[in-house]
Amino acid sequence: MENQELLQAVDIGPWKLRTRIAMAPMTRGFANDLTGTVGEEVVAYYRRRAKDGVGLLITEGITPSPRGKGTFGVPGLYTKEQADSWRKVTEAVHEEGGTIVAQLWHVGRLTHPDLLGGMAPQAPSALQAEGLVHKLRKPFAMPEAMTIDEIRELVRQYKQAAKHAMEAGFDGVEIHGAHGYIIDQFASPVTNIRTDSYGKDREGRLRLMKEVLSAVGEVVGMDRVIIRFSELKDDQPGYRWQEPEAELDAYLTVFREAGLGVIHPSTNSFLKPVAGGLTLHELVRKRWRGALIGVGGLTPSSASDAIHAGVIDLAAFGKPLLANPDLVQRLRTDQPLIPYEPSLHLKQLL
Ligand SMILES: Cc1cc2nc3c(=O)[nH]c(=O)nc-3n(C[C@H](O)[C@H](O)[C@H](O)COP(=O)(O)O)c2cc1C
Repeated sequence: MENQELLQAVDIGPWKLRTRIAMAPMTRGFANDLTGTVGEEVVAYYRRRAKDGVGLLITEGITPSPRGKGTFGVPGLYTKEQADSWRKVTEAVHEEGGTIVAQLWHVGRLTHPDLLGGMAPQAPSALQAEGLVHKLRKPFAMPEAMTIDEIRELVRQYKQAAKHAMEAGFDGVEIHGAHGYIIDQFASPVTNIRTDSYGKDREGRLRLMKEVLSAVGEVVGMDRVIIRFSELKDDQPGYRWQEPEAELDAYLTVFREAGLGVIHPSTNSFLKPVAGGLTLHELVRKRWRGALIGVGGLTPSSASDAIHAGVIDLAAFGKPLLANPDLVQRLRTDQPLIPYEPSLHLKQLL
């Protein structure tokens, strides 16, 4: 069968996954905007994909802090009430035999006081992003450069949210260190012009990521932590790593030192070469023996090829899993996939 590799069961660290198919993290905006809790329709949305046979579900971005929210309807994991609401999701997924990790997402400067109870966005440096806030359609506001104490508080917030995630029954946590959000803002010399130990050089810029991983690993267990990282920035379309290989070496050193087992490099074009004719995932694979999640415009056929070639261990699908809640079933029975249509899939949870 064509999709045999994708449909194989696989053990990744402590997780016994029914297939090599992962659901990519996707913000949907259906949480209660005031309380950051999720309700029955969100439970049904994740249950449906678990029932279909998705191996690993990664949730939409969930904010660990009231100041980490970048659009309306983003759920949180900073209150007990929020954690209790997620428990219904994890129970439903487990009833269907699935595995689910919570993605923790803090947007840093890519937001506005209207979404933060009147407070300014936080960032490594007081540099304003260009562009408009998602749904709010106002320009990104000027952020405040964080003090060392505020950075320590942020790390504490990640740790508390991770604790809540485990209390809510999640099987692990993914740290969103990609796409130009706060951890990535610290990692990039374009958004981080600090001269203290959280900036200055590559090691300093990656320090927040390192501290968040270690704090979250303490409460979750490092074998249940995934990091997502990328060259891609949601607010800077043309952004490129100056030295892709040196940049990747620095990231991977942090991941090895933290003791991570699973990493999730993110791109929108899985097959596009990044350096030396190699794609992002090929470059990472040359340097990384642990588990690797592929993503970015994958089709069942390109995903199967990459698994077969040993480039990736799991294939994450985003838009295809919005359009096809029964994606796994379609692959098992050789049915074609329904194309994704933003107008339909962003308005309702199917
Ligand atoms: C509606 C939507 C929401 C998304 N939200 C997130 C998010 O919260 N966190 C994240 O890391 N990536 C997010 N992404 C990116 C996806 O995880 C994925 O990397 C991207 O869609 C490429 O995969 P695909 O081509 O299979 O859709 C989002 C993508 C879409 C389409």
